[in-house]
Amino acid sequence: MNVYDSSRMADILRPLGYAQVDVPEDADMMILNTCHIREKATDKVFSEIGRLKKHKDEKEAKGGKMLMAVAGCVAQAEGDFILQRAPVIDMVFGPQTYHELPEMVLKANGNERVVNTDFPTISKFDHFPEEQNQGAAAFLSIQEGCDKFCTFCVVPYTRGAEYSRPVAKIIDEAKKLVDQGAKEITLLGQNVNAYHGENSDGKIWGLGRLIEAVAEVKGVEQIRYTTSHPRDVDEGLINAHRDIQKLAPFLHLPVQSGSDKILKAMNRKHTGDRYREIIADIRKARSDIVFSSDFIVGFPGETDQDHEDTMQLIRDVVFASAYSFKYSARPGTPAANMSALVREDVKTARLTEIQDLIAAQYFDFNKASIGKTMSVLFERKGKKEGQLQGRTPFFQAVNAEANDRLLGQFVDVTITAATPNALVGEVKTI
Ligand code: 5AD
Ligand code: SF4
Repeated sequence: MNVYDSSRMADILRPLGYAQVDVPEDADMMILNTCHIREKATDKVFSEIGRLKKHKDEKEAKGGKMLMAVAGCVAQAEGDFILQRAPVIDMVFGPQTYHELPEMVLKANGNERVVNTDFPTISKFDHFPEEQNQGAAAFLSIQEGCDKFCTFCVVPYTRGAEYSRPVAKIIDEAKKLVDQGAKEITLLGQNVNAYHGENSDGKIWGLGRLIEAVAEVKGVEQIRYTTSHPRDVDEGLINAHRDIQKLAPFLHLPVQSGSDKILKAMNRKHTGDRYREIIADIRKARSDIVFSSDFIVGFPGETDQDHEDTMQLIRDVVFASAYSFKYSARPGTPAANMSALVREDVKTARLTEIQDLIAAQYFDFNKASIGKTMSVLFERKGKKEGQLQGRTPFFQAVNAEANDRLLGQFVDVTITAATPNALVGEVKTI
């Protein structure tokens, strides 16, 4: 989401004469786009400000000017406090205000310090300029915010209430992305399958129906969506996995824990078995689909048995990858007031166990890919000279020797080797 937001900020700033540069020395403005989801986010922002401040100082010593801004969810959460603690910062603005950047920059250039953490009722999306080229694999934001209120999570507070963009706007944007070279579109939202946008006939569409319409846009060859919630996996979405071949056979579906007691305390509103059922239903619809997930270890009250329940769920489902995190209390969330905190060393041990198990499952999956030929979208140059890098439909990273002219193309790649985190492949017509 932040990668997407940063590219939208660049789109808004371009007409003002700003362009992106690769090194901070050249910049007239630096924007730190921040995430607040896990602990130490605020500390990290201040240490990053400290690190980058020298570029502003150096530029100003030579009589130049550089604006420094903090954007994103840390800006939203900390607001004024950032200006107080970091005199070097000129602008602090939250994720719902990016369309107001021109006014903010004007003020800041007039030496006014700006704090903007409004939640305007109008849609910021309507005020964005035309999208600039995102390349062959593009993001398209269809939904923002979250009304789920999992007890550990700051998102409902920093990103605000759920909002779904109207269907017509999304289809228009998909067409524009294709015109600019996009072949794969990833539909984005904090809670993307809660999507319930209005079609021009007044009907409300769910994500499954929307995916169908995006698949009909000429030139769209592959569709992904992220991040989804088990509670919002409905029949329409499952059928989309069955019927729409362009929908990639990979789904990131966070479960957080395998213990019903912890899931309840997290306010996830589903059990471990319900999650298993959903996985089974989706597998029935699309037999080759693979799953990834998010796990939180050491949520308050988590016992050895709760942890074992999570391990068992991982063994039962078998994931193609997953992210796992130690629980950290987020200010203002209900879980921050819970007792029975889990000791740090216990969290570390449990995290290692989960990560080892998932890494083994991921490596097995990668090894099972050897010998298969898959359609890979080459998105960038590879690590080694002469290589390109892309992803398989199952979201595995692949490096293969290939001519630069294949950048931005879907190419059949035969997998020849696997490492724990990536694949090596061969292209027939280099
Ligand atoms: N502590 C640890 N992990 C968290 N996540 C969200 N909030 C917290 C928290 N307070 C994780 C969840 C979520 C992912 C994006 O970040 O696993 O799915
Ligand atoms: Fe946070 Fe996702 Fe839960 Fe919403 S559904 S509160 S974004 S973890």
